[in-house]
Amino acid sequence: MAIVNIVLIFVCSLHITSAIIQNTTTIAKNGNVTAARNRLYKNEVYTTAHGILTKSEVFRNFSLSETENWMDEISKWKAPKKLEAFFRYYLAGYTDDNLPLWIAEVGNVSVRQVVEEGERSMDLLEKYGQKVLLNVFRSLFRNGSPEMSEIVAIFDFGGFRMSEVTHLPTITYMMKIMKRYVNVVDACLQQALLINATFAVQVLIDRSRPFLGHLLEKVDIYGANKNKWIPVLRRKFSDDLIPPWYGGAKNFKPVSVFGLNAGF
Ligand SMILES: *[C@@H]1O[C@H](CO)[C@@H](O)[C@H](O)[C@H]1NC(C)=O
Ligand SMILES: *[C@@H]1O[C@H](CO)[C@@H](O)[C@H](O)[C@H]1NC(C)=O
Ligand SMILES: *[C@@H]1O[C@H](CO)[C@@H](O)[C@H](O)[C@H]1NC(C)=O
Ligand SMILES: *[C@@H]1O[C@H](CO)[C@@H](O)[C@H](O)[C@H]1NC(C)=O
Ligand SMILES: *[C@@H]1O[C@H](CO)[C@@H](O)[C@H](O)[C@H]1NC(C)=O
Repeated sequence: MAIVNIVLIFVCSLHITSAIIQNTTTIAKNGNVTAARNRLYKNEVYTTAHGILTKSEVFRNFSLSETENWMDEISKWKAPKKLEAFFRYYLAGYTDDNLPLWIAEVGNVSVRQVVEEGERSMDLLEKYGQKVLLNVFRSLFRNGSPEMSEIVAIFDFGGFRMSEVTHLPTITYMMKIMKRYVNVVDACLQQALLINATFAVQVLIDRSRPFLGHLLEKVDIYGANKNKWIPVLRRKFSDDLIPPWYGGAKNFKPVSVFGLNAGF
């Protein structure tokens, strides 16, 4: 479940950032937000995010202003092109319960390649993961309310290779990252559906079970047989929320797309 987690993390990821914050006018529902209200909102968003982030090992000792600085810095940071092309993820839309649905195509991700490149690449990957986290956070605050909702996520593991999970340093790195962020992910994930998850993914999950514990109760795993999971997706989500290759509408259009070529 290492990758799952890494990716959950990546995906349960944020962009709350100064952008959101400077942009409160856009995201606030009523469209006319006074400067005073803006400032208040900004502070409330930081405070809410701080409450979530400090559940994790990485941010545990952060003061509120350290959280603010971190959010602003990550939001401004431009990831290397190579990482931007690591995988594609998108905000598909909002469920009937008004939860953001994120879809991530993680099957092609090679954490092993990053690990083999060494320490610096591993650090950059973690930072990129934080950026993803920030992007996801952004979707959680969209109603101009400082209250956070949770997300629903679909992880497409098609193409995931066994060589990712048989390489000890790679598994070790994945476990480390997982332990660091699992509590943040747990706090903002309502449910995750894994699709095209073949044997290598099972191996990952079994390996990570001790670290993930409770989080796994929110994860449903489906294999390569689309006849098993397409009906599930169709039951759970309205047609226009899922792309046609997962049984959704032909005119599917995501709210926003990140990574790879950031488009369809
Ligand atoms: C603010 O929102 C607008 C419209 O959604 C977007 O075009 C713009 O890029 C955003 N600004 C920042 C700084 O994110
Ligand atoms: C917002 O509301 C204030 C007070 O009601 C008004 O003076 C101002 O023109 C409004 N701003 C916009 C952009 O509508
Ligand atoms: C956080 O603070 C505690 C107590 O001061 C300390 O034991 C711990 O090592 C710190 N954790 C990190 C990640 O810095
Ligand atoms: C996944 O990897 C394969 C083989 O490297 C490549 O042909 C394919 O285009 C990749 N797909 C995506 C979505 O990156
Ligand atoms: C997952 O399965 C669906 C249906 O079989 C397929 O269309 C899709 O390309 C697969 N995803 C990947 C990343 O291979």
